[in-house]
Amino acid sequence: MAGEWRPAKIAAARAAVERWVRPGQRLALGTGSTAAEAVRAIAERFPGASFDCVASSRATEELARSLGIPVRPLRADDRFELMLDGADEVTPSLDLTKGGGGALFREKFLAHLSDEVVILVDPTKLVTGLGEKSPIPVEVVPFARPVVERHVAALGYRVLARDGPHGSSGRTDNGNEILDLVPPAPLADPADAHRALRDLLGVVETGIFVGLADRLVIGHPDGHVDERRAVGPRRH
Ligand code: A5P
Repeated sequence: MAGEWRPAKIAAARAAVERWVRPGQRLALGTGSTAAEAVRAIAERFPGASFDCVASSRATEELARSLGIPVRPLRADDRFELMLDGADEVTPSLDLTKGGGGALFREKFLAHLSDEVVILVDPTKLVTGLGEKSPIPVEVVPFARPVVERHVAALGYRVLARDGPHGSSGRTDNGNEILDLVPPAPLADPADAHRALRDLLGVVETGIFVGLADRLVIGHPDGHVDERRAVGPRRH
């Protein structure tokens, strides 16, 4: 049950908000149950404070607004001081898979525009190689889906059925669909796997995030947190 890890997610979210969020910041808000805890933690810690926020999904936008945190559309010259988001899997070098909530394109787009990307997870998300526990979500143009499915199968992936974000029927916020891909083995070279998938016509973006996370906060059910920092240059 994912809910049993909620205290760990809350611990990670509260620690990150306490350490790095300050009123007035330009913030990119992630998507998913852990990112939602970060939005709640911001609202709890800074009631009524002003922030300049863009959200990576309608769900996050609605949550933030309901808690009194204004969210605006993206602007041409946007840069964010901080992005807080979750992940489906994280490796020791802070490569990630994301997109379990179907928001991978906007999440990756905002991560590229953010000076500091902080990923919040519970310990179940830690893996040695991407694809170890969770499939790799890929956003595809609906028209192209049958052909893309054949091509990813030729690359060795098994395609799991998912009708839409969160397993329900429907489309991503961009009007596309998500394919969940199970690799034959955990990815030895995530950047290479990303490129091979991204090169397929009809693939909008992959949920493989390489060199985009600056920090990782791991929350534990007893409330304590561990923090890790990415080593080496970030790829913008
Ligand atoms: C949303 O599209 C995802 O990238 C989420 O960040 C990821 O699926 C983690 O979600 P949870 O925080 O709900 O586990």
